[in-house]
Amino acid sequence: MRNTATKPVKSNRAVFQGDLSAPDPIPEPGIEAAVRLMRDGRLFRYGEDRNSIPEGALLEEEFAALIGSKYCVGVNSGGCALYVALMAAGVSPGDKVLVNAFTLAPVPGAIAHAGAEPVLVDIDARFVIDVDDLDRKAVESDARFLMLSYMRGHIPDMDAVMAVCRRHDLLVIEDCAHTMGASWGGRLTGTFGDVACFSTQTFKHINSGEGGLLVTNDEDIAARALLRSGSYMLYAQHRARPGMEVFDRHRLTTPNCSMRMSNLVAAVLRPQLPLIEERNDQWRAIYDRLAPMIEAIDHLQVPVRPAKEEFVPSSLQFSIIGLKDVRIERFLGETAAHGVHVKWFGAPEPIGFTSRHEHWRYLDQEQAVPKADQVLKGLCDIRLPLSLTPEDCFVIATVLREAMAASGR
Ligand SMILES: Cc1ncc(COP(=O)(O)O)c(C=O)c1O
Repeated sequence: MRNTATKPVKSNRAVFQGDLSAPDPIPEPGIEAAVRLMRDGRLFRYGEDRNSIPEGALLEEEFAALIGSKYCVGVNSGGCALYVALMAAGVSPGDKVLVNAFTLAPVPGAIAHAGAEPVLVDIDARFVIDVDDLDRKAVESDARFLMLSYMRGHIPDMDAVMAVCRRHDLLVIEDCAHTMGASWGGRLTGTFGDVACFSTQTFKHINSGEGGLLVTNDEDIAARALLRSGSYMLYAQHRARPGMEVFDRHRLTTPNCSMRMSNLVAAVLRPQLPLIEERNDQWRAIYDRLAPMIEAIDHLQVPVRPAKEEFVPSSLQFSIIGLKDVRIERFLGETAAHGVHVKWFGAPEPIGFTSRHEHWRYLDQEQAVPKADQVLKGLCDIRLPLSLTPEDCFVIATVLREAMAASGR
């Protein structure tokens, strides 16, 4: 449904009539490719006797080229990509994995799935990993792995982060669920670490409902990931894969975990790859319009974004500064009543997609991340559907401004 402009209500307050949770539709070529495939029936990516190249193999080849990586493996979700990456990178049960404390539940979930222990690293005022705390926790924990989550698309100073990782010989897994097409200093996220994972779940930069993509330049990680994703002994049908001799080293020792990507998902995704750049430009334009209007509202602050951070904002975060929880709750009640659903990471209970580290009780609860605790108390999040018009942005900002005023009365 289209987002439309202000509708007068009794109170004369602005009301946003659109739907911030509305997904962006699948482009027609994706729909046509999916229908063609369904008519053909070859939804499963592997076959024992076939002449055509499977959609899954073509997508992996195209995505690897787009990121500039040698190898790519498609799986059935971003969370599975993270799990497969951890296992392929050599994580064993009981290993410690460093991870920034501001992330989403599937990230510590993937570490737990691998039987490993998340070690929380603090964040700074930009919502990104705190490099000094990373340095400290790497020593204290003796961890060999870092899961670097670019949560909500915020990218840390990668020169500083990678220097710490090199100093401690950390193997880096990048969680690029929110940074498809984003760069730091001209270099794409997903190319800094040893292996990187992307999500194609509906609210990400490309949409197949569920789906994940893993990229790497390491032939052993690639082969182990591909085998674990569930390739049976049909791995030769992949194209963005290492040579067959690499599989000989791993084929009999890597479990098949059946987390494959289906051809149907790949068919829906392939026509979206050429659109990423254009969509990211649209997201930047929406963010650039809305962020200054939010920044101008009392008690609301949008984080500073350094010039080197070329982010691709499918959502917008702001902090509520200097207000008690009861006032924050009133503010959020007011925004919701006027059509703008704001997610709040400081809520006492986890709601919807939003939870924070103390809600993940399977973690060691003794871990101190004081700066993250402080930041998350006031951290809010709104999704930015591509359909938002300049007028919609104005209405959303008006709703927030009026809600802030009303919450203080
Ligand atoms: C930061 C982050 N990493 C990983 C994931 C996992 O992606 P998926 O939902 O495809 O499992 C998500 C999902 O929203 C996420 O927000």
